[in-house]
Amino acid sequence: MTYDTEPVTDLIRRRKSWRSYRREHIADDLKGRIQGFIASLDVPPFGSTLRFRLVDSPVPEKTRTPGTYGVIRGARHTLVGIVRPSLLVWEDFGYSFESVILFCTGLGLGTCWMGGTFSRDYYGRAVDLAPDEVIPAVSPVGYVAGKRSILDSLFVMGAGSRNRKPFAELFFRDDFSTSLDPAGAGAYGEALEMVRLAPSASNRQPWRVVVTEAGVHFFLSRTPGYRKLFSQVDLQCIDMGIAMFHFSSAASSLGISGSWRKQEHPPGIRMPEPLEYRVSWVPES
Ligand SMILES: Cc1cc2nc3c(=O)[nH]c(=O)nc-3n(C[C@H](O)[C@H](O)[C@H](O)COP(=O)(O)O)c2cc1C
Repeated sequence: MTYDTEPVTDLIRRRKSWRSYRREHIADDLKGRIQGFIASLDVPPFGSTLRFRLVDSPVPEKTRTPGTYGVIRGARHTLVGIVRPSLLVWEDFGYSFESVILFCTGLGLGTCWMGGTFSRDYYGRAVDLAPDEVIPAVSPVGYVAGKRSILDSLFVMGAGSRNRKPFAELFFRDDFSTSLDPAGAGAYGEALEMVRLAPSASNRQPWRVVVTEAGVHFFLSRTPGYRKLFSQVDLQCIDMGIAMFHFSSAASSLGISGSWRKQEHPPGIRMPEPLEYRVSWVPES
């Protein structure tokens, strides 16, 4: 996939979470382009119905963006995602929301996925949330400040956001006993590197991938206790959706096409506990 501005792989490499913004509205034409992009989003891989809203935030004299417990400073706009829970909705949501995040990156704007540090009540009121809808995540959208606030820097340090696990710890060939290195991954090397660079909640990087002749199979290595901490939403399945978008958009920009499937279990792969199989990407033959 190529956005208007530059290849998706460049956007993935460039995106970073930003929590400190200039207190300015974004230009109307940029706002219009984000809204146009949202309106033209494809149906996500598993067909979930998703809603996205760009909400204006009144930023009072104090620079905290409301509804973010002071974590976000200065941003005048917040992208809000809304879903009705259903099977694979978290993956679908992560996939589509990340495509909007990268679109904003391409416009030169800062963003920050937030699944925990925002008020679901505040943003629920802002978007007229229906009783059966949930807000999985939001993101500030704006011009980044020249310098990160102290709190922003603490988040970056606390989550170890600059680090990613080595390739060979995340990616495997045929089963979990053979690690892959970028050279051994062949045509999939760059698309897997895009998975490795993906943002994830608390930078836990829960994705594990096995490449076989039949396809590319995605597994979740859950962080114990995380699912209970955020009971309304499955943040690590959202992480999976983000990784899926990085993988398939990068693959397609490199001319490799395929589609997403949920299989009962990918054939022939013995899964060490406590991994959880989620989805497979199957190349077009
Ligand atoms: C699903 C998801 C939820 C996140 N929730 C929060 C959050 O609540 N608050 C926050 O400050 N950062 C949040 N983050 C940002 C991560 O901490 C960040 O992506 C990670 O540390 C990697 O850093 P990077 O985005 O700069 O590459 C979240 C990221 C993801 C993908």
